[in-house]
Amino acid sequence: MKTLPLDLGERSYPIYIGAGLLNQADLLKKHIAGSRVAIVTNATVAPLYLAKVRASLTSCQPIEVILPDGEEYKTLEVLNRIFDALLAARCDRRTTLIALGGGVIGDMAGFAAASYQRGVPFIQVPTTLLSQVDSSVGGKTGVNHPLGKNMIGAFYQPRAVVIDTDTLNTLPDRELASGLAEVIKYGLIRDPEFFAWLETNLDKLLARDAEALAFAIHRSCRNKAEVVAADERETGVRATLNLGHSFGHAIETGLGYGNWLHGEAIAAGMVMAADLSRRLGWLTAAETTRIEKLIKCARLPVRAPGTLSTARFLELMAVDKKVLNGRLRLVLLKRLGEAVVTDDYPRAELEATLASMREAA
Ligand code: NAD
Ligand code: GLY
Repeated sequence: MKTLPLDLGERSYPIYIGAGLLNQADLLKKHIAGSRVAIVTNATVAPLYLAKVRASLTSCQPIEVILPDGEEYKTLEVLNRIFDALLAARCDRRTTLIALGGGVIGDMAGFAAASYQRGVPFIQVPTTLLSQVDSSVGGKTGVNHPLGKNMIGAFYQPRAVVIDTDTLNTLPDRELASGLAEVIKYGLIRDPEFFAWLETNLDKLLARDAEALAFAIHRSCRNKAEVVAADERETGVRATLNLGHSFGHAIETGLGYGNWLHGEAIAAGMVMAADLSRRLGWLTAAETTRIEKLIKCARLPVRAPGTLSTARFLELMAVDKKVLNGRLRLVLLKRLGEAVVTDDYPRAELEATLASMREAA
């Protein structure tokens, strides 16, 4: 097992990464404050891993909240089911929530923990590649709104993140690829050496080579932890973690939540951000080709859906958390391995990217 610290003063916490961690009973137990525990999971993950987590909590009888599976259920209505279960079981302020599942469960359980009785402890047990390399770390929690992705939420840090890499053995290929989008993101925004490693080792990751996956998860979490430690509340550098997200969130909202996976939308979004960066003279054509090739090799889309027109894209992108004073700030690449957040780009160049980087309708 490897342990990475996320350094946030009194809210610091460990990120444990290793194979078989769900069998290590003490790991969860040492981060549980009171005597009550509620495990929040979904109908797909519960039959796979709930019994293991339950078994490691021998000293208490956990409450189990099993939500429907899917991005389309990441809503305030479904969130309320967590509160219903906690209240029905008379859970007090020392109840610890355990988020067992992918990013949807992690974001929802985290938001429930942030707001139940104004805040109870929670632990992230991510079971998808995407949640292991990104969403479980850093304390962004929340739900979607019909008008915009992740628009309702809170910053709320977990007490620990327990990444059992064995859980990836049951993950469908499409979900593994979706997680690779966020892995590639770290290479693009701040870790060019990792990007080069990915170019050489992508095949191993797709073949689920355990050593390669463990390296990629550790390196991704290290990148994320460094960025979050520097800017927990996204007043600066943390926004660079959203490379491709303004485009990607527009795709997710525009198509209806759950039609494209989050990582798929972000993958196409990162290629669009790279294209705009090239138009601004920051990336070379050779670099955008390298980026597109890696994303394509990861079995991810490199173009936005043809059904979203430029006008619709612009409308959707106007509801973005990076809009300030009516100007959309975008994360772009100054070069491969260095991201900037800027609203200083000609609108015509953005429109050119939106018009040219779509699949044929
Ligand atoms: P997800 O949570 O929907 O999980 C993907 C699918 O895999 C689901 O069907 C799930 O039931 C299933 N699954 C989970 N673990 C499994 C396993 N081990 N074996 C088999 N099936 C398994 O999606 P995701 O990709 O994990 O997360 C996407 C969500 O994360 C989006 O809502 C996105 O907005 C959010 N996100 C949040 C942050 C953040 O910082 N909070 C960052 C990135 C993404
Ligand atoms: N996934 C973006 C962030 O955590 O800031």
